[in-house]
Amino acid sequence: MTATPGHTSLYLPIGCEIISVSDLTPGEKLFRIRRADGVPLGHLPGQFVQVSLLGWGEAPISVASSPTREGFFELGVRRAGTLTGAMHALKAGDTLGIRGPFGRAFDLSRLRGQNLILISGGCGLAPMRSLIQYCEDRPAEFGSIAILYGAKSPADRLFKDELAVWEASARFACSMTVDNISVGDCFSGSVGLITALIPPLAFNPDSTIAAIVGPPAMYRAVIAELHKKGLPSERIIVSLERQMRCGVGKCGHCSIEHLLCCQDGPVFWLNEIEHLRGAL
Ligand SMILES: Cc1cc2nc3c(=O)[nH]c(=O)nc-3n(C[C@H](O)[C@H](O)[C@H](O)COP(=O)(O)OP(=O)(O)OC[C@H]3O[C@@H](n4cnc5c(N)ncnc54)[C@H](O)[C@@H]3O)c2cc1C
Ligand code: FES
Repeated sequence: MTATPGHTSLYLPIGCEIISVSDLTPGEKLFRIRRADGVPLGHLPGQFVQVSLLGWGEAPISVASSPTREGFFELGVRRAGTLTGAMHALKAGDTLGIRGPFGRAFDLSRLRGQNLILISGGCGLAPMRSLIQYCEDRPAEFGSIAILYGAKSPADRLFKDELAVWEASARFACSMTVDNISVGDCFSGSVGLITALIPPLAFNPDSTIAAIVGPPAMYRAVIAELHKKGLPSERIIVSLERQMRCGVGKCGHCSIEHLLCCQDGPVFWLNEIEHLRGAL
């Protein structure tokens, strides 16, 4: 069941149509989607939607495209289990349900005028791409922008074509690293941990904000490197993942002590959560 036009319940999915599906890697696909009623999704970079398929359940997925790209929104989806497995069988023209957008976005009002360091690992590039595209489309609003991305291997990188565009663009300083490289891989970045990309960066901590989205193991090490460079927790943003059910602050499944990841996050300033047990 999906919502009738004009219905605004937080719990009823809106019917959406898949415009196209493309492979990002063997295990990750990009879905370009529009609401069936033609209404824009109305998201901000960093927000997520609850995707549902009748009989397969529901899962939170970050919006991977910027609201500045109009007429559609995109989701980068890793085949992880029930719902995402069923999604990977969908084709252009198929339908799915969407609730949202939900959650706290990147604070664009505080990012404007600042130099940005946008750090992502693995699947974390999907939500970060929404912010990167936003910066690409509104270049005058931000200072310098460094993009740091780490993946398991060159083949595991998401959005390879866009990474090449960002690397070639004078607007971005783009550095990439992979854990492993094989003979014959075409890759111009470095081999090693993403933390190695931070010491060479030259930036003024008073006018710089860093944002981090990636696998749980990445956060502490990346944050330690940023702190060593003099960037305080008040200038570091983290986007966190938790098991979610309702997505709208009712069920408590996503709690981080007194905070709810679905409402107070998923985007947090580090100083808001670093003292909470189990946050990172
Ligand atoms: C805010 C937020 C944003 C997110 N954004 C994205 C995104 O942009 N892209 C993306 O791909 N994912 C994203 N995720 C993660 C995604 O929501 C989860 O991977 C989700 O669980 C997928 O749903 P599913 O039904 O496919 O997987 P599930 O069936 O829930 O399985 C998820 C994991 O649990 C394991 N599992 C399932 N059942 C069992 C069991 N019985 N016993 C043991 N292990 C089990 C599976 O092997 C798998 O590793 C996001 C999550 C959050 C909270
Ligand atoms: S998912 Fe229900 S409160 Fe956050």
